[in-house]
Amino acid sequence: MITVQHVSKHYGRHTALDDVTFHVKTGEILAFLGPNGAGKTTTMRILTCFMPQSEGTATVAGFDCLDQPMGVKRHLGYLPETPPLYPELTVDEYLTFVGRLKRLTPRRLASRKSHVIDQVGLGSVHHRVIGHLSRGYRQRVGLAQALIHDPPVLILDEPTVGLDPKQIIEMRGLIKSLAGSHTIILSTHILPEAMATCDRVVIIHRGRIVAEDSPDRLSSRLRQSEKMSLTVKQPRHDWLERLRTLPGVLNVLPTAEPNTCTIDCQLEQDLRETLSQFVVSQGYGLLELKPLSLSLEEVFLQLTHQEEDAGIGELNDLDPIGQSSRNEQPPA
Ligand SMILES: Nc1ncnc2c1ncn2[C@@H]1O[C@H](COP(=O)(O)OP(=O)(O)O)[C@@H](O)[C@H]1O
Ligand SMILES: [Mg+2]
Repeated sequence: MITVQHVSKHYGRHTALDDVTFHVKTGEILAFLGPNGAGKTTTMRILTCFMPQSEGTATVAGFDCLDQPMGVKRHLGYLPETPPLYPELTVDEYLTFVGRLKRLTPRRLASRKSHVIDQVGLGSVHHRVIGHLSRGYRQRVGLAQALIHDPPVLILDEPTVGLDPKQIIEMRGLIKSLAGSHTIILSTHILPEAMATCDRVVIIHRGRIVAEDSPDRLSSRLRQSEKMSLTVKQPRHDWLERLRTLPGVLNVLPTAEPNTCTIDCQLEQDLRETLSQFVVSQGYGLLELKPLSLSLEEVFLQLTHQEEDAGIGELNDLDPIGQSSRNEQPPA
């Protein structure tokens, strides 16, 4: 549904995108994950015909982004980093305005408008002035304008940035509810966001794609060991050493907290039962035992390290998606 082939973008002498290639299948949600300045917005602007690439080709729904921008725009909805809202209009007025711009007939506009207002949960505020709405509701209005012409493709640039935790959960739920019937690319610099919402993750770093895989496989591939955090009631004395002797435990590291440690366990092993039984049987007082997931910083450190060691080609040469047999803990 979306193809990006050997796309580069230069701003003067600065290369923002360097030979980027990826594809998104119909109905898939793809996370475009990378730190600030990685080139996410630049890629999205090229796909939405907001800006031409310097080299390479990009297509959406079979239309070329350079040669057939009207075809592309008819098939996609775009939520930019800052939603293009008019704060003095009501939600109704604004959606009518956008629908007219997208050349919906009055009849179709009326039915689409009531449908998207319902779909993104704006029913209680549709008559209110946008400038008076909370950030979470304004972001929903942004999503509503992207959906008004019922496009099969959605491009969402950091859709949860600036939202509070409750709003983030609602926005993620909304995006997930659009999956299947839509092909979606969403950008984010937050690893758990990519892991929680998407079927596949493309990691971009300094304008280049450094990894591409399903969330499960990506984190297991990047991980040398399973990490656990253990908190017990009894302050540390000999239990650090004793934990090290348990089968499957590679290392036990103290933390700043006197009764907490990080345990490195062998890959593909879930030692929660062993560890909890041990702690309880020894009377240490089990307070918390939880798996730790990699942070984005750790992922990038590892990827850029591997990039130097192995070259980008190997990183892109990954196994087919969805063959993971691992049972990962969902990210918090
Ligand atoms: N209009 C522009 N002119 C010059 N440089 C730009 C422009 N837009 C983005 N850049 C640069 O291109 C790089 C990628 O930016 P961007 O695509 O916005 O990254 P992201 O969205 O991942 O944070 C950054 O180094 C940024 O400074
Ligand atoms: Mg951006």
